[in-house]
Amino acid sequence: MKIGVPKEIKNNENRVGITPAGVFELVKHHHTVYIQATAGEGSGFFDADYEAVGAEILPTIGEVYAQSDMIVKVKEPIEEEYPLVRDNQVIFTYFHFASSEALTRAMLKSNAVCIAYETVAESDGSLPLLIPMSEVAGRMAIQQGAKYLEKPIKGRGVLLGGVPGVPPGKVLILGAGTVGIQAAKMAAGLGAHVTILDINMKRLRYVNDIMPSHVVTEFSSEYNIRKHIKTHDLIIGGVLIPGAKAPNLITRDMLGEMRPGTVIVDVAVDQGGCIETTTPTTHEAPTYIIDDVVHYCVANMPGAVPYTSTVALTNVTLPYVLLLAGKGWEKACKEHAALAKGVNIVNGELVYEGIAEAFGWETMVQ
Ligand SMILES: NC(=O)c1ccc[n+]([C@@H]2O[C@H](COP(=O)([O-])OP(=O)(O)OC[C@H]3O[C@@H](n4cnc5c(N)ncnc54)[C@H](O)[C@@H]3O)[C@@H](O)[C@H]2O)c1
Repeated sequence: MKIGVPKEIKNNENRVGITPAGVFELVKHHHTVYIQATAGEGSGFFDADYEAVGAEILPTIGEVYAQSDMIVKVKEPIEEEYPLVRDNQVIFTYFHFASSEALTRAMLKSNAVCIAYETVAESDGSLPLLIPMSEVAGRMAIQQGAKYLEKPIKGRGVLLGGVPGVPPGKVLILGAGTVGIQAAKMAAGLGAHVTILDINMKRLRYVNDIMPSHVVTEFSSEYNIRKHIKTHDLIIGGVLIPGAKAPNLITRDMLGEMRPGTVIVDVAVDQGGCIETTTPTTHEAPTYIIDDVVHYCVANMPGAVPYTSTVALTNVTLPYVLLLAGKGWEKACKEHAALAKGVNIVNGELVYEGIAEAFGWETMVQ
């Protein structure tokens, strides 16, 4: 199969759809891989790295779309790319269709086959192509939180690990899912005292089993949250209720209970956030302050570490890319139920119920 990887043109997106290691595997399986010139540079991969493993570098995005049977990328196509998408072309990327009717209509019109990373789902409901980005964001949350606790950037002036003779900082983590556990691991590694809350006892038992004793689990309740926000320096929001807006676990009035310079990193911002005062921010202006509490609410945290994010993403997408390229999308999806759940649009028909519901559309092909 001919597989094309365009350069991401969405604002500030430095990730790329495939690493040289991924190209190596595809070429080994006798596929042709076209990489748009400089597509990997933002992630630290150069044209020569791709050429060395057998990719062909094409100068323009138009040529990549025109020559490829399947496009593998990171973000959804943006308006300039809509006319480039062809009949029957497979597009494998993050789409998040429910958040854009314009994108959905454009892809329906293109007659392409759109397979969305975010809806590829295992039988237990887990989303294998979303997990790595949560892992990145969870670990990054502590790195960012530690930085914003510094006084010159309006934090409390607390070093998370403490020093001999000075107790460590305290980190409160809401949610013991992928984000929460990765954040706990990083915070514990720095020597901070960690309190992690969840409503799922299975998750809390797991955390309790695997983490050191300075990571303490507690059931998530308003009472416990109100108690802990008074004494913790850094608060990480990592809750998720699948398919719904995140619950407001910290309300505006609760900011007054926190000490000045407390830092909140609301990773769940992309689902509306679990703090009432959360508003999405960007890497250019990541924080704002309300009632002396620093808020960090960047909606695409992994975008700041494109090398790590690109490698983590290719690690999980490559097996599916190999399947799609080797068997063709129809056979691959018939044989792999998890991949089949990723199919959102087929040749002008919407086949994913959640998207039709999001727009209040009645017609949907099964
Ligand atoms: N900002 C970013 O760049 C970025 C990147 C990746 C993920 N995210 C977001 O981070 C959030 C968490 O993702 P995840 O992969 O860790 O999800 P997950 O499903 O693995 O974990 C969510 C956890 O929240 C828990 N939870 C639900 N209600 C709760 C409550 N009231 N109190 C405490 N815990 C509660 C669940 O039991 C679950 O353990 C999601 O909204 C995800 O979209 C953001």
